Amino acid sequence: MDKVLVARAAFPDIVDRLRAHFEVEDNPSDTVLDKAQLIARLQGKAGAFTTGSERIDAEVLAACPQLRAVCNMAVGYNNIDVAACTARGVIVTNTPDVLTETTADFGFALMMAAARRIAESEHYLRRGEWTKWHYDQLVGSDVHGATLGILGMGRIGQAIARRGALGFGMPVIYHNRSRLAPEIESALNARYVDKATLLRESDHLVLVLPYSAASHHAIGAVELTHMKPTATLTNIARGGVVDDAALAEALKARRIAAAGLDVFEGEPKLNPALLELPNVVLTPHIASASVATRRAMASLAVDNLIAALGCGPQAGRPPTPVNPEVLAPR
Ligand code: GLV
Ligand code: GLV
Repeated sequence: MDKVLVARAAFPDIVDRLRAHFEVEDNPSDTVLDKAQLIARLQGKAGAFTTGSERIDAEVLAACPQLRAVCNMAVGYNNIDVAACTARGVIVTNTPDVLTETTADFGFALMMAAARRIAESEHYLRRGEWTKWHYDQLVGSDVHGATLGILGMGRIGQAIARRGALGFGMPVIYHNRSRLAPEIESALNARYVDKATLLRESDHLVLVLPYSAASHHAIGAVELTHMKPTATLTNIARGGVVDDAALAEALKARRIAAAGLDVFEGEPKLNPALLELPNVVLTPHIASASVATRRAMASLAVDNLIAALGCGPQAGRPPTPVNPEVLAPR
């Protein structure tokens, strides 16, 4: 029986499905493993169930030569050096599709919260400062009919565009590495623009692009100066896509109106400047966190691990591989 590591706590009833096929080492105390601990626990393991908090890099792979599958419970996989995995024949899987609508819901909610100053209003009430109604108290900007900008038009980006176009009458502009098919563009009321136009014309800009060296600080000090002073910026992509220090400065100087952030550079630590600002809504990386969706993500990661290690009904054919070329017969 192969051995597998479940690197972080996950739904016990779902993780238990692995026990029918493998000898499982889990992490019920949910300690975040540093590199040395991760390497130690991965010794002799054929597979790993990981989350965004485990970095699987070339050094880890070299130290764990028996590893054949890394199954991430996340759609993003910037915690994994996929090229290094592919070079060693290690299959990598992620959890796309199952979280698309839930994550889009949250991105939209965060954008609306920033535009309509919901968190700020709530803090104001909790501080006991509400003594009278006032005509321009906590006035924000409209979402309906405003121009929705999307940077990164993958599945989640398209799901957000659909909400904006069909539910809120928003013209949608987007920038992406590749352009959508014309019929999808027209169904989403979406227009492809260059990045400069996206920054200049968006009333509400939502970031949904994967993190990579190419997308590092895609929004930094310069980009922020090109946005409207009334605009909002929402990041549900990854920390590092935005230069958080530059964003804090722009929010403080009111170069943009507000931001909604679910992901941060260096999370779970936050740039302390962000915590001081009233015009930013902050959430702890929970865009996919509905009960049903987190269960679906765990279940898909487990299905991937079982299949990737040659067990179960889909043996050898994990449902959502990131580097399927590893599976091809050599
Ligand atoms: C969460 O950030 C994910 O990538 O699923
Ligand atoms: C990213 O992978 C997405 O689903 O948008």
